[in-house]
Amino acid sequence: MPYPQTRLRRLRRTGSLRGLVRETELRPARFVLPLFVAAGLDGSAPIAAMPGVSRHGIEASVQAAAEAHALGVGAVLLFGIPDNKDADGSGAWDDEGVVQLAMGAIKRALPDLLVIGDVCLCEYTDHGHCGLLSEDGTVDNDETVERLARVALSHARAGADIIAPSDMMDGRVGAIRTELDAEGFTETPIMAYAAKFASAFYGPFREAADSAPAFGDRRGYQMDPANGEEAVREARLDVEEGADIIMVKPAGPCLDVIRAVKQDTRMPVAAYQVSGEYAMLRAAGAAGAVDEREAALESLTAIRRAGADVLITYYATEAARWLA
Ligand code: PBG
Repeated sequence: MPYPQTRLRRLRRTGSLRGLVRETELRPARFVLPLFVAAGLDGSAPIAAMPGVSRHGIEASVQAAAEAHALGVGAVLLFGIPDNKDADGSGAWDDEGVVQLAMGAIKRALPDLLVIGDVCLCEYTDHGHCGLLSEDGTVDNDETVERLARVALSHARAGADIIAPSDMMDGRVGAIRTELDAEGFTETPIMAYAAKFASAFYGPFREAADSAPAFGDRRGYQMDPANGEEAVREARLDVEEGADIIMVKPAGPCLDVIRAVKQDTRMPVAAYQVSGEYAMLRAAGAAGAVDEREAALESLTAIRRAGADVLITYYATEAARWLA
């Protein structure tokens, strides 16, 4: 009895014929490489919680960007680690801040590589929260939004091609859009972390960026991982406020959300394979539990299959090399 599935399976088993019926492809042009740029750092310093990932000084960040660019990686996403923090996170909108200087340096060296600025205050506040605190210790949404617009403007001035607010305050996409437009950056798109869950998978990042909250957690402004419908509502709101690309984060645990947001908004969707997802794959590979390369590429393929157009991953450079 010739089952149709049997014929299809034969097709997929047969080397070059497999490509003919494959539904999902990975291309380095869809990859975004996150880079941690640290003030006062000469060269690079490995991040213990993320084996294979380093903090970079400005020159080293240009080199890392160049390596990614040479392999066809589409963009870099910059996080700054300042040498001074304060209650307001004022270092975040310093035109001479490390992230602004790195943006300028990368754009001068690699004009064709897209540079994305992560807009948040948590790396710059001495308490580690993503915004300014009110007297009761909760984050003051509206005061924070005003500061975030300043940060976005400083990134645009420094040469950022795309602005990516990751703070999750309400109304920040609209406020950033208004500020950018008023200052002549009408053509700078916003990639909004729209559906960002309060996830356990950000653990290693907080070591990398030195941004762990000194008290409490981020559940006041990040979303409950149990809520998929709410994620779609958040995405719709960001689109209404002017977001050009919608982000879902983390990626692997949220494949259903990626699909739902894509179907609902029909916007370009980015998914962030975050630090904890990366660290797990690395650790499982190092322990011999899985083949790291196969597992990492399968994970990225699944994120793409779910509907993500843009894949933000610490594997960007390595995966581009694997695919070459
Ligand atoms: C800043 C920000 C975080 C991440 C990206 N931007 C940390 C957080 O929200 O706690 C996490 C990225 C990762 O884990 O790789 N708000």
